[in-house]
Amino acid sequence: MKISVVGLGYVGLPLAIQFANSNVTVLGLDLDDAKVNMIKEGRSYIKHVARETIENVVKADRLCASTDFSRIKEVEAVIICVPTPLNKNREPDISFILKTGRTIAPHLAKGTLVVLESTTYPGTTDEDLRAVLEEGSGMKAGADFHLAFSPEREDPANDQSRVKLIPKVVGGYTQVCLERAMALYGKAIDTLVPVSSCRVAEATKLLENIFRSVNIALVNELKIVYGAMGIDIWEVIDAAKTKPFGFMPFYPGPGLGGHCIPIDPFYLTWKAREFNQHTRFIELAGEINTRMPEHVVNKVVLALNSHAKALKGSKVLLVGLAYKPNVDDERESPGYVLMELLSERGATVEYHDPHVPMIRPTREHAHFAGQKSVDWNAGNIASFDLVLIATNHACVNYQQLADWARCIVDTRNAMAGLAIASGKVWKA
Ligand SMILES: NC(=O)c1ccc[n+]([C@@H]2O[C@H](COP(=O)([O-])OP(=O)(O)OC[C@H]3O[C@@H](n4cnc5c(N)ncnc54)[C@H](O)[C@@H]3O)[C@@H](O)[C@H]2O)c1
Repeated sequence: MKISVVGLGYVGLPLAIQFANSNVTVLGLDLDDAKVNMIKEGRSYIKHVARETIENVVKADRLCASTDFSRIKEVEAVIICVPTPLNKNREPDISFILKTGRTIAPHLAKGTLVVLESTTYPGTTDEDLRAVLEEGSGMKAGADFHLAFSPEREDPANDQSRVKLIPKVVGGYTQVCLERAMALYGKAIDTLVPVSSCRVAEATKLLENIFRSVNIALVNELKIVYGAMGIDIWEVIDAAKTKPFGFMPFYPGPGLGGHCIPIDPFYLTWKAREFNQHTRFIELAGEINTRMPEHVVNKVVLALNSHAKALKGSKVLLVGLAYKPNVDDERESPGYVLMELLSERGATVEYHDPHVPMIRPTREHAHFAGQKSVDWNAGNIASFDLVLIATNHACVNYQQLADWARCIVDTRNAMAGLAIASGKVWKA
């Protein structure tokens, strides 16, 4: 069987490799020449995807990459894994999905299966994507070609081989579409969870992400409330999670990050308006989570104050720019928001992140582009008035930080249990 994966990012590349390792020939398509060329050379551009993993499947002719979308005619199934961001007004931007649909439609052979994996609001697959595919191909979904939605559940800090082990929800436009999609994923994934429609599958992914966003907001709020009472939220969570039923631990932090949790819930908020419905939990969680960086900056001010220093003119080192531990992905990271807020208030801000050696150009934080991760040594760390831990990568030596730093604000409980001078660490 030969299939195509369109969009070779954090989701598409591990999925393409999983299929390639399951005796499926995969044509990876992307607009980005750099990614396509790296795959051709058997190189990886994602930290947790090993070079050898790509090299093996490329050498075995199981995976090839291209920017030529007319090659869609060669495949029996197309899986779309392109971005679904929010626009400037925080509304869903499904333009990447629609563009992909328009590009592939003229090349679709009769009987091809098209599966969308990008996280999106219910109705995207059977309304929006279906419309552009039908218009561009002159064929009918469910009759001439098959259509399905199957959300990705990639967990970036985990080994990519887990793709095979994570149960996969699949919804089809028709029963036959569902059967075709189940047959496809059955080649590469151990457990499939069929649902009655594309919309149910789309709604399932949103529930999973909203669940995280709301629970993170809850512990973020409790962190502040308990903090005011002199109670440490991390100790409380550690105790609560010993309950063997009905509790799942979530941890506070400096705000939400990544490509999913801060964004996806608002896809539902937008769509719900069409049905005159309100998503109050989502809005409230968003409000609490987006306020967290302000809370952290206030703690930085207090900590500096205790050293008779003003934030203005101080040197602050942010440790951990990636949005979560042990990944190299800093998209939507609250670390950027913290750097912005601190700089706006007159601090000089630098960062240390072994997984992000240099800040890439981004639209939102263009002025940080090119800034390099500060080298890790006693002299450098001691030269900062304050170190702010935004993400707790496992590869950072926190005992050295305890020994070298003058003052630490810790948003991740990374310094817990270490030998450290009293008053040096402020939890935020
Ligand atoms: N990253 C995660 O952990 C994760 C987890 C679950 C779901 N998702 C969802 O999966 C989708 C993809 O996310 P990602 O993290 O892989 O994004 P990504 O930015 O890492 O990768 C997207 C890729 O698509 C390519 N692309 C963009 N437009 C294209 C087009 N028109 N044609 C072909 N290629 C195109 C980009 O060049 C890029 O390589 C999003 O909807 C996201 O919400 C992501």
